[in-house]
Amino acid sequence: MKTLNQYNFAGKKALVRVDFNVPLNDRYEITDDTRIKATIPTIQKILNDGGSVILMSHLGRPKDGPTEKYSLKHLVNALSVIFNRPVKFADDAIGQQAIDLAASLQPGEILLLENLRFYKEEEKGDVAFAEKLSKLGDVWVNDAFGTAHRAHASTAVIGQFFTDKVSGYVMQAELDNAQRILDNVERPYTAIMGGAKISDKILVIEKLLDKVDNLILGGGMTYTFTKALGGQIGNSIHEDDKMELALELIEKAKEKGVNLVMPLDTVMADKFSNDASKTTVPSGQIPEGWEGLDIGHQSIAVFTEIIEQSKTILWNGPMGVFEFSNFAVGTNAIAEAVVKATEENGAFSLIGGGDSAAAVNNAGYGDRVSYVSTGGGALLEYMEGKTLPGVAALEA
Ligand code: 3PG
Ligand code: MG
Repeated sequence: MKTLNQYNFAGKKALVRVDFNVPLNDRYEITDDTRIKATIPTIQKILNDGGSVILMSHLGRPKDGPTEKYSLKHLVNALSVIFNRPVKFADDAIGQQAIDLAASLQPGEILLLENLRFYKEEEKGDVAFAEKLSKLGDVWVNDAFGTAHRAHASTAVIGQFFTDKVSGYVMQAELDNAQRILDNVERPYTAIMGGAKISDKILVIEKLLDKVDNLILGGGMTYTFTKALGGQIGNSIHEDDKMELALELIEKAKEKGVNLVMPLDTVMADKFSNDASKTTVPSGQIPEGWEGLDIGHQSIAVFTEIIEQSKTILWNGPMGVFEFSNFAVGTNAIAEAVVKATEENGAFSLIGGGDSAAAVNNAGYGDRVSYVSTGGGALLEYMEGKTLPGVAALEA
């Protein structure tokens, strides 16, 4: 795989696949620009070499062609500020305007293409669409780790139309950091898995059972375990069809000698709202009409102690509904423990993308852990041992 530093972009038009799938509020303002800022070094390297940059990305999951809500034009002003120069915009990724703007692009200039998913061909991995896109640039740079698990036109299929294909700095850093917790790690190795559903995490949890010393589970998925073990979970989120699987995981952890740790207590609420009435009960003792929205202080104490003694930490998924400030206590406490382990115990800590990355960044801890991934599903699939199409396309 050719890396950015092995390539001189002087006089070249670099077609750069980025993952600018960022959250926007209802005024179309970016509420978390982590994924954009992460690409600055890549873009800067190309521009410094004397190249120009054509940025392409998806935003959201538009189903019926061009949709105002999913237009990448909402990013243009922010990008111009972040990259410190006016960013041009083509309102159709493969239209005549895109062709003309790309053709006249000068060294040092940046052009952004409209949302690739406005064409259904993108997600289908359509070869003709990929070929049209490829004509816009001289070299393909893939820096979209967050989308590398998709075999889409711009993330993978396009590779066949370039002799020059290069992995960006984000892609490299993501792969290096993920590899670090797959290879020989320093022990104790603790994985903290949270989030709403077991079904999203099951494959990676199974893989982790072969590697970790401690597996801490938190968040919505634990109510499925509690119910499977015969506890009362009231109206808490759970997956009835995953209860057997939950019991199997508990058995597997035992067989493999992994210390599986689940919440001892739950902060339950009388409705799904930040201003709900709340009270803490032991796990498995949630009455009807109540639902668990966070881990309790006993769980925090036990989890924190394990985390602070760890030398390698992987965290993916929040401990509760952290979007509600009153139920973010558990997630924030875990973030603090991970920071402490990193700063005081010299642990290597990797925060998986999506919600846990947002939680860590929102709490201002992004720079105080070893690495915050920009990938959600992509990181999980990589950890599961799958080949990511976006990476394979760079290697072919
Ligand atoms: C993500 O945010 O998970 C990536 O940008 C991929 O988006 P997708 O899940 O809609 O393919
Ligand atoms: Mg996703």
